Amino acid sequence: MNYHIETYGCQMNLHETEKIAGILHREGYTSATSMEEADIIVFNTCCIRENAENHAFGNLGALKKLKRANKNLIVAVGGCMVQEEGKAQFLKEKFPFIDILFGTHNLARLGELIRRRKQEKKTLIELFPARSGVEDGVEPVRASYPNAWVNITYGCNNFCSYCIVPYVRGREISREKADILSEVETLCAAGYKEITLLGQNVNSYCGSDGTRFFELLDEVASAAQGVRIRFMTSHPKDFSAELVAVMKAHSNICKLLHLPAQSGSNRILSLMNRRYTREKYLENIALLRREIPDCAVTTDLIVAFPTETEEEFCETLSLVKEADFSSAFTFVYSPRTGTKAAQMEGQIPEEVAKDRIMRLIDCVNKNTRKMSAQYVGKTVRVLCEDYDAKRALYLGRDEYGRMGYFTSEKNRVGEFVDLKVDRANGISLFGSITGD
Ligand code: SAH
Ligand code: SF4
Ligand code: F3S
Repeated sequence: MNYHIETYGCQMNLHETEKIAGILHREGYTSATSMEEADIIVFNTCCIRENAENHAFGNLGALKKLKRANKNLIVAVGGCMVQEEGKAQFLKEKFPFIDILFGTHNLARLGELIRRRKQEKKTLIELFPARSGVEDGVEPVRASYPNAWVNITYGCNNFCSYCIVPYVRGREISREKADILSEVETLCAAGYKEITLLGQNVNSYCGSDGTRFFELLDEVASAAQGVRIRFMTSHPKDFSAELVAVMKAHSNICKLLHLPAQSGSNRILSLMNRRYTREKYLENIALLRREIPDCAVTTDLIVAFPTETEEEFCETLSLVKEADFSSAFTFVYSPRTGTKAAQMEGQIPEEVAKDRIMRLIDCVNKNTRKMSAQYVGKTVRVLCEDYDAKRALYLGRDEYGRMGYFTSEKNRVGEFVDLKVDRANGISLFGSITGD
């Protein structure tokens, strides 16, 4: 029996797919080489923006044919989209061939739902909060070597006015420090070379014994000597000098902070309920760079939030230059039903939004290219992650998040290599291995 999993969304979902794979293995399934060969297909969905949903709808529709060809095929749909108000019922009606719909807190129960579905001939729906709990105890089948993801928090309490995450993932829960440390130690012993701590807002972590994020990070970095540590995402309102001190104190913590700014305008930041100002954001980055001058900062930015004026948009452009981001994820605001912003007056017309996103991407790219050019002639240390068969090149990232490509006779995945950069293209660097 074979499985196939389609994943949408963020790292959280990618990691949850590893947990779903773990459950399916336990149920006796192995990974299929294609969707057509699968006996069970699981969709792990995202609803952060409308296009994430549309993408999943299109691919779900295409399953009808497979289901007709194979009567025993099981189709299960989980993840954030299923948790949206009324969405599970909608999916059940639109795609009546779906066998199982499971929510973000019901992942650990997937095995039982599959067994039940084989007995009962009706669509099974199990959502949060009908059953609440996180999926600790599920052994993931990791697919990201040499990196491993480790959840430290689940959910979010911030209610940024545009965002659906708090509604579909529930309130923030911090995992126990002892459980996190023991997972980290196991991963180090198993030979992982990079660990990424995951949470919607990692720096609001609060352990049951009062442990704060910077203290947890300090302990994780000490427990994982020789292993790179990354963490994401951090919220600017929870930025602290203590966090910077811990980053500075440990050479194995990557000198990269992903700190979503969202907008450069104070009025828009306030409407977004972000709880910091442009000035405070820049002050924090200045402190970070004073302490760790080479630290890279990356960000997320949204254009065309309701009522955003041309001048306010230009403040986001100027923030990109002032903050000197090495790269940024850029998004057009997408109204999400149930959020505060979706009810605001002054939604921005599509052509204005398109124009703004193009100008923002251009501005971000210019900055990225300028920074990448400075690498040419220098040597960077990358952790080789994969082989790109199309380019016939190995690839890896340096601690600042820059991608490096190189040729090698032997398999380098999982090795740290020194790369002499001879060419830069966007965020990617190309070079050759030195000291071999
Ligand atoms: N918890 C993280 C990531 C949340 S989702 C954080 O707070 O940074 C990742 C990014 O998607 C957000 O940072 C935001 O830039 C973007 N995003 C969230 N909701 C959105 C929406 N409704 N429209 C457009 N972009 C959105
Ligand atoms: Fe969404 Fe804001 Fe929470 Fe991030 S911090 S997940 S943007 S509500
Ligand atoms: Fe999407 Fe859910 Fe992540 S909405 S971005 S998969 S938390």
